[in-house]
Amino acid sequence: MQAREDAAISFDPEAIAPSLLTWYDVHARRLPWRALPGEEGADPYRVWLSEVMLQQTTVAAVGPYFTKFLERWPTVDDLAAADDADVMAAWAGLGYYARARNLLACARAVAAQGGVFPDTEEALRALPGLGDYTAAAVAAIAYGRRAVVVDANVERVVARLFAIDEPLPGGKAAIRFAAGQVTPDVRAGDFAQAMMDLGATICTARSPRCMLCPLAAQCRGRAEGAPERLPVKAAKKPKPVRQGRAYWIERDGAVLLLRRPGRGMLGGMRALPDDGWSAKGDGAAALDGDWKSAGVVRHGFTHFDLELQLMLCASAEAASLPDGEWWPVVEIEAAGLPTVFAKAARLAIAERNG
Ligand code: ADE
Repeated sequence: MQAREDAAISFDPEAIAPSLLTWYDVHARRLPWRALPGEEGADPYRVWLSEVMLQQTTVAAVGPYFTKFLERWPTVDDLAAADDADVMAAWAGLGYYARARNLLACARAVAAQGGVFPDTEEALRALPGLGDYTAAAVAAIAYGRRAVVVDANVERVVARLFAIDEPLPGGKAAIRFAAGQVTPDVRAGDFAQAMMDLGATICTARSPRCMLCPLAAQCRGRAEGAPERLPVKAAKKPKPVRQGRAYWIERDGAVLLLRRPGRGMLGGMRALPDDGWSAKGDGAAALDGDWKSAGVVRHGFTHFDLELQLMLCASAEAASLPDGEWWPVVEIEAAGLPTVFAKAARLAIAERNG
């Protein structure tokens, strides 16, 4: 990070937190997992659950899932005692399914330690599936510990405040260092969430609303005239497009579903049988049988796009069927299919209903 002298603004890292917290006291978003601004003691289980759900996923998408999980599993001990299949199905649609597998592993580790989440960043980091971000977020938000919490919103706010123009991902270290300079010793959880709220509602990616920003007078990115160009991101490689086939095999009103192997893409989730497509290549393990195509479902994954051809049985018997469970088609919603297969199921049902 270059140190910049800028006569037009007053840049004192320690002045950031007070301005931001005053703003947060009035403008904090009321979210179901949050304590009110200034209130101590958000429930660590709620904080942890929300932070795991919010990784890679928007606040709007998480809301109903968070509510559903809390109704069904109100404490970490309840979640630890849940069946894997129920948790995976309840997670269906949120994506990044490794998070759900890690969620269970973590709940069981916490339950084994007496059902209490540890209260330091370091001890939290030792739990299964808790990375630097989640450990810092839980330490700060649930326990008020000073921790440097940097998610994509915070990254954007800090890159602008300090006018850090080293492209991401290389620039992450400079941003983290700068975030540390503005993180206060008190109200660490409120500060972290205030940064997130500022990033989500004011310091937005494309058209920041600097007129409404409590940090405008202290922002080097704004003083330089084009905050929206920050953070600079390294050019993304275009995503490859993979081709696959999925099979809708229906008998007596029930459809054949499999459970995918525990690790890997959509691991542990219920799914339609398919031809083995993956991030690395097209599907090559076609099922024997007499099939006709019902159309193509498109789905974007993080590192590739998938074109999934949906195949229907053209004749009454498909040659050899994989092992699975016959799921009543009228209850397909309850199967907890990940989004790509839920799209395929909708297409199959539309086709069958003519
Ligand atoms: N994104 C990640 N964690 C969040 C939180 N606690 N509040 C709002 N947005 C978030």
